Formats: sequence, C-alpha cells, structure tokens
Amino acid sequence: MKQLETAIRKRANRRSFLKNSLAASAATVGVGLMSSGLSALGADHDGGITEGDASILRFLAAAEILETDLWQQYTELTGQDAPDSGYKTGLLQLDGDMPQYISDNTDDEMSHELFINAYLKSKGAKPVDLEPFRTLLGSQVTDIPGVASKKRLTNLMELTVDTSWWTRYRSDTQNPDLGDTFPNAVPTLAGGMFPAIPRNNAELEIGNTTVPVDKHVQAIANTAGFHFAFIEQGGTSLYAAMAQKTSNLEVLRIVLSIGGTEIMHFQTWHDKAGNAVPLTDGALVFPDLTAAATPPVGESLQSNLIMPEPTVFLSKKFPVCSIIRPTAAKGIAMGAVKALKADGLFRGQTPDFFEFLTDLAEEADEARREI
Ligand SMILES: [Fe+2]
Ligand SMILES: [Fe+2]
Repeated sequence: MKQLETAIRKRANRRSFLKNSLAASAATVGVGLMSSGLSALGADHDGGITEGDASILRFLAAAEILETDLWQQYTELTGQDAPDSGYKTGLLQLDGDMPQYISDNTDDEMSHELFINAYLKSKGAKPVDLEPFRTLLGSQVTDIPGVASKKRLTNLMELTVDTSWWTRYRSDTQNPDLGDTFPNAVPTLAGGMFPAIPRNNAELEIGNTTVPVDKHVQAIANTAGFHFAFIEQGGTSLYAAMAQKTSNLEVLRIVLSIGGTEIMHFQTWHDKAGNAVPLTDGALVFPDLTAAATPPVGESLQSNLIMPEPTVFLSKKFPVCSIIRPTAAKGIAMGAVKALKADGLFRGQTPDFFEFLTDLAEEADEARREI
C-alpha cells in the first residue's frame, strides 16, 4: 500500500514538474518537446480544458466562421471554379495564381472553423454557431448562379480598409504594442466605403478577359487585394496574442499551428497587394507601390519589402527584432472585433449579433494562463 502511495506521489510530482517546465518552455523550446509532452498534460481538468481555454477557442471559432463566410464570397466570384470576368481578370493583375490562392485560403478557414468546433465538442465544451445571424444580402450578380440568393454573415460591399499594416511591417523604429500608430499605404481606401466584390452584373463583367480592365472594376479587385491582407494580418496577430493566454499545451499547440497558417496567408497577400494596379476611380486612389522613388510611396514603402523589418520589441532597451506586430494579449479579442467593425465587415448586422460577438470576445479576453 505504502509502495503504491509513493508511486502515486512520485507520478504526481513528475506530472507537476512536467507541467510547469513544459508550459514555461513551450514558447521557446519548440514543437518537438511540446508534442512529446502532450500525453502527460492533455488529461488535465478531468479530460476537459479550462474555461479560459474554451473561451479562447470559442472566440477563435467565431473569427474563423466569419473568415470562412467572407472568403466563400470571394471564392464564388473569383476562385478556381468561378467563370472568367472583368473582376477575376482584375485580380489576375495582382498575380496569375490569385484564383488558386483565394480558393485555398477559403478551404483553410473552413477547416479551422470545423476543427476548433469539433475540438471544443470533444472536450465537452460548447461550440460556436453563428447561423442565426446569417441574414445579410450579398452580391446581387445573377451571371454566376446561386450567388445572389445566399445569405451572408459579412458585408464585402461597403468596406473601409485599413492599410496601415503595410507601413507597420516596414517600420524599423516603431511597434503598435508600444503605442505607435502608422499611416495608411492607400489612404483613400481607409477613408470611405468601397466594394471589394462586384455588387451586380455590371461590376462583374462576365466573360471579360480584356486587359486593361475597366478602371472601376479594377478598383474593386484592388480593394479585395488589400482586404485579403488586412484580414490575414489580423489573424496573424490574434493567434500570436491568444497563444500567450492558453493553459493546456494541446490548446497552445492548436493556436500555434492554426496561427502559423494565418501568417502564411498574410505573407502571400502582402506580396500580392503590392501589385495592385495604380489608378484613380472617383475618390479612390491606388498609388504605384512599386515606384519606390516616387512620392507619396517613398523607398521605405516599396512593394518588395514584404519581409517584416526588424523593429523595437518589448522594450527599446533591446536590439531590434523581426517580429509579428502587434502581439500584446491584453484586450486582443475586443480589439479584433473593433477592427473588423471599423472595416465595415458587419455593416447591416443586428444588435444581437454584436452582443453575441462581444460576449465571446470579453470571455476570451478574461482568459488567463493557468499553470
Ligand atoms: Fe483561419
Ligand atoms: Fe485567415
């Protein structure tokens, strides 16, 4: 009996040692150690996960559902299987592989949404369902069957796209986590309401593959190009911030592994946005971001500087470091909701929708690392 007690105590000690040391080193030591430690740690909280971890995952599931909804709209209109159109030709000016990338980004978001909800369920936690809020009318194009009749969660037709991520990732002296703010690469896009998808057949131009594309249609495609990167840089920061609040190593693994693909998406879209065709369409002006020497672009904003510039991180006393920015965890979920709202993505949504999303965000922001 005594032997058994000693064995149990030893195991418990070893378990708590493992728990503490692995959790503390998870962020720096890397994947190999983390995966080997999972079996020792995954059974915490009676096989479930902490309330904080469930809240984090629920907010991320909601974000993924919203991402899936918007990416599906882009895919229907300009993905791999979408027919030729002026809009699609406009996006092809940013890169010949745009339809493939758009379809694949959509698949990724769908997989994130389904995985996180399935994982929550497997732990006895409540998954997220936004279907009651699927009430918005989307594009009314009828030249692509099925598009006009679908109800949406997000609105891609009145966007106010923040393009300050462009300058933020090029700064070598500033960091939003230290309170710095950044100018827009396309100021007019951040100061009005513009469609990123064709609202009707006239803006779609079915069958048109002639280059140059009509200026207004190209402007819609350019707007989409910048919006893609806006969305995915948001995901990049969101996951990096949320990871710091997780308690269970397996949940951390999920957040890091999905977050990594958001980074891949952002990097791709960052590269493509720089190819947006320079033009003026009414109030909307796209500068030539490839013209490094020409104001208002300037050398530091040139389009091929897509690797993150090393900048101040944590404190100005340290050497500059090439990093994702921002990554501060405090208030990150509400920050994400506010950014998406300011983006115009939820124009037309109901008060109930905002209440539901705000509740999820507040719960995620209250989550704390428990080790
Ligand atoms: Fe995602
Ligand atoms: Fe994403």
